[in-house]
Order: sequence, then structure tokens, then C-alpha cells
Amino acid sequence: MSWLRRPLASLRSLVQPRRSSAPGSPLARRSSTSSISAFMPEATALAGVRDYPALRQFSLQQAERFWGALARERLCWISPFTTVSDCDLALGNIRWFEGGRLNVSVNCIDRHVHTCPDRVALIWERDEPGSQVRITYRQLLEMTCRVANTLKRQGVRKGDRVTIYMPASPIAVASMLACTRIGAVHTVVFAGFSAEALAGRIQDAQAETVITTNQAVRGGRIIELKKTVDQAVKMCSSVKHVLVAKRTENEVPMSNIDIPLEEEMMKEEAFCDPVAMESEDLLFLLYTSGSTGKPKGLVHTQAGYLLYATVTHRYVFDYHDGDVFGCVADIGWITGHSYVVYGPLCNGGTTVLFESTPVYPNPGRYWEMVERLKINQFYGAPTAIRLLLKYGDAWVKSHDRSSLKVLGTVGEPINSEAWDWYYRVVGESKCPVMDTWWQTETGGICIAPHPATREAEIVPAMAMRPFFGINPVLMDDQGRKLMGNNISGALCIAQPWPGMARTIYNDHDRFVNTYYKPYPNHFFTGDGAYRSEKGYYQITGRLDDVINISGHRLATAEIEGAVNLHRVVAESAAIGCAHEIKGEASYVFIVLKDGIDIAEHIITEELKHIVSQKIAKYAVPDYVQIVKRLPKTRSGKIMRRVLRKIVEQKLDELGDLTTLDDHTAVQEIVAGVQGDPKE
Ligand code: PRX
Repeated sequence: MSWLRRPLASLRSLVQPRRSSAPGSPLARRSSTSSISAFMPEATALAGVRDYPALRQFSLQQAERFWGALARERLCWISPFTTVSDCDLALGNIRWFEGGRLNVSVNCIDRHVHTCPDRVALIWERDEPGSQVRITYRQLLEMTCRVANTLKRQGVRKGDRVTIYMPASPIAVASMLACTRIGAVHTVVFAGFSAEALAGRIQDAQAETVITTNQAVRGGRIIELKKTVDQAVKMCSSVKHVLVAKRTENEVPMSNIDIPLEEEMMKEEAFCDPVAMESEDLLFLLYTSGSTGKPKGLVHTQAGYLLYATVTHRYVFDYHDGDVFGCVADIGWITGHSYVVYGPLCNGGTTVLFESTPVYPNPGRYWEMVERLKINQFYGAPTAIRLLLKYGDAWVKSHDRSSLKVLGTVGEPINSEAWDWYYRVVGESKCPVMDTWWQTETGGICIAPHPATREAEIVPAMAMRPFFGINPVLMDDQGRKLMGNNISGALCIAQPWPGMARTIYNDHDRFVNTYYKPYPNHFFTGDGAYRSEKGYYQITGRLDDVINISGHRLATAEIEGAVNLHRVVAESAAIGCAHEIKGEASYVFIVLKDGIDIAEHIITEELKHIVSQKIAKYAVPDYVQIVKRLPKTRSGKIMRRVLRKIVEQKLDELGDLTTLDDHTAVQEIVAGVQGDPKE
């Protein structure tokens, strides 16, 4: 653990030589091969590493030595790896630390139990304020082992997929880690998804085991989680067992495949032998939206993901031993995976599991929690900050926030007003704000203002600097790399890094086509970005048909798929439009079937219901507009660009309409646009 106390300068020492060799010596010559024994760092190559930019340079130019040294130092291996990386971006083949074997749960728990068993690993900030529960590393190990043994008793084996549909809680974290202990692959589904969305993900993963809770509690309300699982499981023939933990004392109906988790785990032993996993064995699947109606199960593997989550957690947030890290994301999203669970625990940290909402029981909840738990790093979403800003400063200022050292945001662009309020009011102009850009696909933070020297400038509302080993490039429409600064383009990453996703579960072709075909030999992020005069990056938004509602990704095709199920809808087109709190909201245009007459407010309510049933509540459209026809090209493609400009009231920016089939469609739609599109 001593390395956690070291300042960033120590990262440099990590890549310092263990044995030096003059260029041309046998040791130096071996460094050109891929054998682990060959790339012991040499003094001469590091002579230039004196500052952050030089270290970044080093991490790019000598990526193998950089990541190899980190992997050896930061992770605890059962057997050492023999190659650092073996990647071919053209084919989407990505492999790191092959030959090595390790166990993720050992890295996240056991090694800390040896050094500091009574350190608090988890602080469960339950929905009811003031009722937090602390779990030490020793307790987390026992819990994890008991769940692991319960899974084994149900026949779960290495490589089996386990779906976890639970709110943030110690038992949910123990379930994730229990999977890693026995080599099972977890797939956590956000507990706000509907039964159908859950079923689709269980079917795709072919999971035989589901873990859930009887109910959930959020914002003072009871949510019937088990009931949703029951509905989902009816659609999934693969499921053999449902383990049910108790969040409340209320009884729920249990069938013959349901197993009361706490009762069973108490019959099991408190120790479970960890399975030695290969670096590239599957660790987890996490479903996210692409530009089609079918969510994709992104695959992350053991060592590379864990290393990247750990190192980014440590350096972006300047996390030190003893700090309390408060990331309020749900465990059902990648942020919860990397910065509630894996990064903090692998670093031996104390991590908060937030079960509630930012406004329960009042809009001071976050800051009252910061005061009570003495949180040092607070990591949240711009949408919540925009919401809290509206309630005024008093809810913040009435709580002592002197423990805070770093603030962070993630998931969507943060506007200047929200950034300024977060920095000035929440952080009292003392805490650097990390606007972190990354994705489910990247595994961890790729662009953020830190690491940098304390004195380095932070530009408001900008992610700014690529992390070590991250090589962003901007491309034009023709696939040409854009050079120089003060320029915008498609954001790609030119070099592999350990945290990147390895494939889409059961669909490697889709993986290659989505991420590696558009710009050969580069990972395409799907986002646009601007590189400022000073070379800093700012994310400008998605370039595909993905929208971002309250920081949650959603394909417009998914919304349309649900809307088109309504009996009166002939066809639809969903787009994202600006929303004051949510960042983006969905705006749906529908064409009714012939002869149907229905009031807009009635169909709006019915469509909201369908979308919430088919996907989740957060996905429901804010606006539904009935139109006679959709603007289409002569070949029948919907011109969404035109719809977006109409909703933004930028009629002078409609662009080239020569391919538009029927110009009256545009005029009709302009006349009927709803709401204040600026909101
Ligand atoms: O469009 C970008 C946006 O969120 C997308 C990734 O979503 P997801 O995989 O769900 O992961 C969210 C949490 C990491 C990105 O393609 N995004 C994420 N962070 C930012 C952002 N947009 C602007 N600024 C950010 N800091």
C-alpha cells in the first residue's frame, strides 16, 4: 500500500530502471522482443522524464515499458505475464499482459486484508440519511467468499454469466467480487431498466443465474425489484436460479428457482479459494446503447481493465491512502464499475455506495453526506449539478464541506454555469474540478484535467488533457488526421491502452465495424471533439444516433422501436434536443396510421408508458409531435439532421435539401414544433 502514499513523482520512479544497461548490451537488445524479461526499463531512455508532459510522452512512445512497469507494481499476480500487449487495431484484436494469471477479488480485497483488515472498504450510504453502514476489508472478504460459495453450490462455474440486478449495496459489490473470485462473468443491469430490457440482456448473455433484492428503496419509495425480475425471467429460458437478497423486511413471493441469498450464504464457509484467471479471460459484460435498437454487451477482461481503473482512479482524483471517495454513480453503469468498485478497492480505498437521490430528503443530501462521511473526492453527474444549482446556494452552504479536495463530473458535457457553481459554491474555489471524458468502451477515464502539476491551469467545462498512454486524434469527414490546434473533428484514439473493451459479446463483427472500420487503425469513439489553441480537448457531442439523457446513453432507434409498437403509430423518428436539466431530452415525431385520429396529449402519455415499459423511465420522450409525414430523402431515409435543426429553431441552418423528397413535410413540421427547444 505504500505506493498509494507516494505523490505522482513516484509514477516516474516506477518506470525507472530496475537494472540499467547501456544501449547495445544484451539487456537492451532484448527489449525489442516481446518477452517480459526483455523490457526491464533502461536508465537512458528515461532521462527525459522530468515533468508531466515528458511522462505522457514516455507513456506513448514506450507504452510497453510504461504499462508493463505499472502492471507489475500495482497488481498482485499469481504468475507473471510474458508480453505486455499484442494489439491489432485494424482487426479489433486487443490483448494485454498475456501469460499472466491473477484474481481480481484478491487484488481488490485479500491483499488489503493482509495489511489493513479493519480499514473501511465500503460506506453504504443508504436511502435513509444517517443510517450508513461501514464494511471493513475483512468483512467484505467474508461476504464475498460466502456469496462465491453459494454461487458454486448452485453450479456456477468459471466463464458462466451471472446477471446482477441490484441497487448499490455491499451485497451487490460482494456479488460482483464473488463472480470474479470463481471466474464467473458478471453483467450488472441498472436496476432502473424495465423487465423487457432486463430480459433482453439476460438472453443475450445467456445467463443462468440472476442476483437481485426483494425490493429497492430510493427517494423514500419502495421499488419492486423482484417483481420485475419475475417478469423478466418468464421471458428467459436460460435462467435456472434467482438469488434474492433482502433490502427490506417485506416478504415477496418466492418460486422454486428463487433462493434466499442471506440464508444460504450463512450456511457456507467464509473462505473460498480464488480461481487463477488468465489476463484476457472475461471479467464482465456491460450493456450499452449503440446506434441500432439492440444494446451491445461490451466485454472487459481481467488485468488490463483492473489496472486502468486503478491507475486512473489514483491519479485523476489524486486519491491517497485514507481518503473517502464518493462516486454517486449507480453500479449498473461503467462509472459504478470503475470508480465505485474496482478502482477504489484495488487501491485499498474507502468507497461510498450511494443508494439515494440528490434531492432526498432535500436538495442538501449530497452535501450533508459529504459532511457526515467526510468525503474527500466527490464524483457526480452534470445533470444533478444543474438540478441542485436551481435550488440555490443555501442547501450547500449549510453543510461543512472542508473535507473536499477534488470534485469530478462525468457522462455528458457540463455547461459553464454548472461548472462555475460546482467550483465556486460547492468547492469554495479550492477544489480542482475534473471534467472527465470516457465511455463504457474505454473502461476508465481517458481525458481529464489531471494528472498535471498543481499549478497547471484548468479551463472550465473542458476535459482537457489525455491520460497517460492515451493518444487522441481528430479526423475529418474524409478520414484524414487533422493537424494543429483550434480545430474540430471526430475523436479517435490512435494507440491501444489496457482498459479498452475487447469485443462485443458474441458479435465481434459489430465491434470491428463500429469502432475500428470508420478510421482504420484507430479506435473511433463516436464523439466529436474540439482541440483548443493550447491543445486541450473539449467534447462536442455524439456523431451518431445516440442521445444522452441525464448522462445515460440511449439509441434513438431504441426509442423508435418502442414507439412503433403502439397500435396507431405508422412510423416515428426520435431525436435528442437540448434540455436545461437533463442535458438532452428525446423528441419524437410520429406518423399515425391511416384513418386514426387521436389527441396529441393522449398519445404522448401512452407512448411514455410504452417506452418506460420497454426500456426505462429515464428514456421516456419529453415531446411527441404528430406529423403527416417525415422528411425523407428520395431513397426513403429519414433526414434527422433536418428534424434537429427544426427543433433547435435554426431554420437558416437546414442545409442541403436537394435530396428531400417532399418539401411540404418540413413546412408542416415547423408549424407544429412544441415546447421551448432552448430548454
Ligand atoms: O458522448 C460521451 C458522453 O458519454 C458517452 C459515454 O457514455 P457511457 O458509455 O454511458 O459512459 C458514461 C460514463 C463514462 C461518451 O461517448 N460523455 C462522457 N463523459 C463526457 C461525455 N460528454 C462530454 N463530456 C464528458 N466529460
